[in-house]
Amino acid sequence: MDMKKLAAILAEAGQSHVLQFWDQLSPEEQAEMSLDLESMNFMEINTFFKNAMKTSGQSSKEKVDSRMEPVPREVLGSVTRDHESLKEWEEEGLRCISENKVAVLLLAGGQGTRLGVPYPKGMYDVGLPSHKTLFQIQAERIRRLEQLVERQYSRKCCIPWYIMTSGRTMDMTKEFFSRHKYFGLKEDNVLFFQQGMLPAVDINGKIILEGKGKLSMAPDGNGGLYRALATQNIVKDMEKRGISYIHVYCVDNILVKVADPAFVGFCSLKGADCGAKVVEKNNPTEAVGVVCKVDGRYQVVEYSEITLTTAEKRSSDGRLMFNAGNIANHFFTLAFLKEIVSTHEPHLQHHVAQKKIPYVNTQGQLIKPDKPNGIKMEKFVFDIFQFAKTFVVYEVLREDEFSPLKNADSQDGKDNPTTARHALMSLHHRWILNAGGHFVDENGTPIPAIPSLKDGTDLPIKCEISPLVSYGGEGLENLVTGRAFLPTLVINESGVHELVKNGL
Ligand code: UD1
Repeated sequence: MDMKKLAAILAEAGQSHVLQFWDQLSPEEQAEMSLDLESMNFMEINTFFKNAMKTSGQSSKEKVDSRMEPVPREVLGSVTRDHESLKEWEEEGLRCISENKVAVLLLAGGQGTRLGVPYPKGMYDVGLPSHKTLFQIQAERIRRLEQLVERQYSRKCCIPWYIMTSGRTMDMTKEFFSRHKYFGLKEDNVLFFQQGMLPAVDINGKIILEGKGKLSMAPDGNGGLYRALATQNIVKDMEKRGISYIHVYCVDNILVKVADPAFVGFCSLKGADCGAKVVEKNNPTEAVGVVCKVDGRYQVVEYSEITLTTAEKRSSDGRLMFNAGNIANHFFTLAFLKEIVSTHEPHLQHHVAQKKIPYVNTQGQLIKPDKPNGIKMEKFVFDIFQFAKTFVVYEVLREDEFSPLKNADSQDGKDNPTTARHALMSLHHRWILNAGGHFVDENGTPIPAIPSLKDGTDLPIKCEISPLVSYGGEGLENLVTGRAFLPTLVINESGVHELVKNGL
């Protein structure tokens, strides 16, 4: 496209200022910038901004609050309260997997700003004895589940893994998987695709420049999934493979049960087209969204969108009224996703996030603001719950299934590498105790099942079980029953290893 045409398009959209440094750019920079600009639809961006601003702001927050209702018991399945049904749900899920009907879809396009690493979060090593990354742990859970199903049904099965990345994470993610030989999965069954990006804008909708020839771009939120499913032909690929059910989840939860058979089975037996996994929210200010009804339709109200008064409301039993904490694990049928992509996606509105966005000022200097100066527009993955015909909620135990990695380590921090590592080791400790093993200290004295608080810190027993050995605590009896272990204990495909005893 020639420059005159591009300038006219920008002028029509009221975005001519992005060319203010054009004459100062080198021919290469000009070529790069015009390529970027040509790929964008400025009128559409203006409309996104207008619509997003209409629905954002304090007044709409209060309005949402007054229209919220908790999830009714009849759509809820709970691993504790419906314990007697668990086996049946799990069997159903395993059957679906054995028929190659289940896929998993990982949302990994985020920038991990809070964690503060310059690479995708899935590549993070939280410091387990094995030093496995989040990607590796998830890949190995998929492999183990396939093996369990293959053994039970005596036939080959495959759980395809769709991984959504963004312009910021795609190359590094692909390179990492390739370098690690897809962690033992078949390359054909690990499919990467890319979500869209949107420019950050100021409060008047003017696009922010992060360099003289560079717009400030960010991924369009994890709800960018639905547009990407169509543009990247992912729905078609799922159809071709005969997929019926998709488990969608976020990269940062170290305890995630990828393709969880009980969750899939529960949703399938309830005839649901859409489902959400939750944990009980027990602290009003915890930064999780809540699954609830708004105007009679299911929705997640984000932690940034709920007022404290509503978050603190309690039911007569003393529990928080809005306690269905969203852990970003969702179930969709392919039929539902197809309807979303073809009918509803274009009408989903962006949410507005006020951010501190580095920008170049009119003198061309880069400024790092210390308070929010602009807006990022994002769609959310759960924005489509409202279109479900049969929506269900599946409640699980936090200590078994939810420990997200959001922040960098700090003394009293939460949701950081230390809490993630401890959550996994504490789960594996319980698996070992349940399978009849126990731990001793250097003197051979048994360590109590509930470790005492030392120096005010609740340090878990150091132990780690490879997902290739156990997906959810199964299959450990032969390895641990009646045995006493000295931490650090690592159980992997090559056996049981006590690192201290072996001088490791
Ligand atoms: C998310 C949920 C929140 C939930 C919490 C639990 C959303 C919108 N919010 O919040 O309700 O209680 O997890 O931990 O889902 N991502 C993309 N593309 C993007 C942005 C994010 O793929 O453009 C991915 C990230 O890589 C990550 C996931 O989405 O895997 C969640 O993103 P994050 O920004 O960490 O969400 P939270 O605000 O923590």
